[in-house]
Amino acid sequence: MEKPNTYSFDSNRIPQHVAIIMDGNGRWARQKGHIRLFGHRNGVRAVRDVIESAVELGVKYLTLYAFSIENWRRPQKEINALMALLVSTIEDELPTLMKNEIHVSTIGNLLQLPIKCQQSLEKIKRLTDNNNKLTLILALSYSGRWDILEAVKKIASDVKIGILDPLDIDETVLNGAMNTAQFPDPDLLIRTSGEQRISNFLLWEIAYSEIYFTPVLWPDFTKDDFYKAVIDYQGRERRFGKTSEQIT
Ligand code: IPE
Ligand code: IPE
Ligand code: MG
Repeated sequence: MEKPNTYSFDSNRIPQHVAIIMDGNGRWARQKGHIRLFGHRNGVRAVRDVIESAVELGVKYLTLYAFSIENWRRPQKEINALMALLVSTIEDELPTLMKNEIHVSTIGNLLQLPIKCQQSLEKIKRLTDNNNKLTLILALSYSGRWDILEAVKKIASDVKIGILDPLDIDETVLNGAMNTAQFPDPDLLIRTSGEQRISNFLLWEIAYSEIYFTPVLWPDFTKDDFYKAVIDYQGRERRFGKTSEQIT
């Protein structure tokens, strides 16, 4: 794969972790006079392209918000179609993931997914386990509050059985109890479709992420849009509470 040459990236400032709220499939389809599912199907191309772009740029972690816990409130027909699309996409993409040395991981309450999806995910995670060019994290039946609550329950139970002193609960302990424990926090969060909200994504982890909103609807999102977001990110000054003078 070739590096994009129309953009000049600062190779020292490639985001280590990019997270994306892939939004706008339904509107994209409706605008074209189709049913919402048509948008979801066409969103797969964009998924493929951002994965490839991330590999090209040397991004190490890519988290994709594919289905939120709140999305279970959608019409059953749409949910079923999305779950079927998930399984068929996983099956289709396996050779490409292997070729590009991509390791697939997940966050979310997978037990809520249909058994076929769970099996597909287990299989792809196992088969890609030794790949280490990029970790692709699929957020499925995920919500940020859910993860925080699950972590709090684990911590409370450790306190109850006497293996954790409440005074020792710090950010590292909470981090370690979350679904995202093995991953660094996102450096860059992208949301497509013009909505400027977080929709219960990675609430704890995005404390200091740079956020990039674009009006592009997900099925229209291209490699070029991904590169633009990274260029924008590279122009930001990440101060983490310090002054500008302290950074430079
Ligand atoms: C994002 O597109 C995909 C999922 C949430 C699964 P939407 O389906 O939310 O599309 P819009 O926002 O209705 O256009
Ligand atoms: C967020 O999109 C969830 C995913 C992209 C999977 P939604 O379309 O569900 O978000 P809201 O409900 O409009 O905020
Ligand atoms: Mg939406």
